Formats: sequence, structure tokens, C-alpha cells
Amino acid sequence: MSAATRRRFVASACAGACAAGALAACGGGGGGSAPATPTAPTGGATPTPTPANEVRVPLMGVGQTVAASIRLVGGLVTPLAVTRTGETTVVAVSRVCTHENCTVDLPARNGASLDCPCHGSRFLVTGQVVNGPATRPLSSFPARIAGAEVVVSGV
Ligand code: FES
Repeated sequence: MSAATRRRFVASACAGACAAGALAACGGGGGGSAPATPTAPTGGATPTPTPANEVRVPLMGVGQTVAASIRLVGGLVTPLAVTRTGETTVVAVSRVCTHENCTVDLPARNGASLDCPCHGSRFLVTGQVVNGPATRPLSSFPARIAGAEVVVSGV
């Protein structure tokens, strides 16, 4: 598949998924992200457009983790765990387990680990392995606080 064909496919697939509300990275919900497609202003401030490989979620409380997903360069969509680790710090990691690619669960409570339901690996919200069989950390993504939102960038 050529790059141009792949771009058209991804755009088409995303448009369909967004219509179904399946991809948070497209602004279709599932984690509270802002719409990727700007809507007509209803008065007040004009919404900030969200780049295709960026996802925004409402700023959560310190210690809280929320689910999101992001479309990476190349079109792959990955589930995320986005955690506010302090007043001014946030982290975002892939929820794809580095053992055999199952999706790790969100923490059962603030401060708990990301647990893999398949073979029991556990990870800190920052991605480091607590116990295996996984030996590699979860992939992390650049994340920052921007006003009342957390902005995660895909790579
Ligand atoms: S796939 Fe996660 S522990 Fe095996």
C-alpha cells in the first residue's frame, strides 16, 4: 500500500470510527477528549483545533488515571492510561502489555498499578515493571497540562 493510499485509508477509517464514537483520539469520546473537528462556535472562545496525533482529556485530580486512546503516525491506534502524578505533572503510557500485547487494566484505585489480566504483569502508572512476566516498561508518550486539559502527543 502506498503512503498516499494508506493516508486515505486511515482518514476514511478514522472518519467512520469517529462517527461511531469509537476513537477518543478522533474526538469521538471514550475518555472525554475534546473534539478533533472544530465545531461552530456558539459564542465565547473559538475552540482550539486538535492535531490528528494529539489527544486531550479533562485534567483529573492528583493520583487519578483515566483511559484514552491515540492515533499514532502511521494510523495505529493505541489505548492509553493518563495519570496526574502531581499538581503540575502528568504521564501517559500505552496500555499494550510488553509481554504479549494484552491491554492492561486501569488502576483499581488511585496509586494502584496497571495490571495485565492475561499473565499477571503489573506496571507503575509511569510504565515501569513492578512484576513480570513482562520485562520491558510500557511505552510512554509526551504529556503536559494545558489549562484544564491534559494534552498527549502521539509519535
Ligand atoms: S500479555 Fe501481559 S502479562 Fe502476558
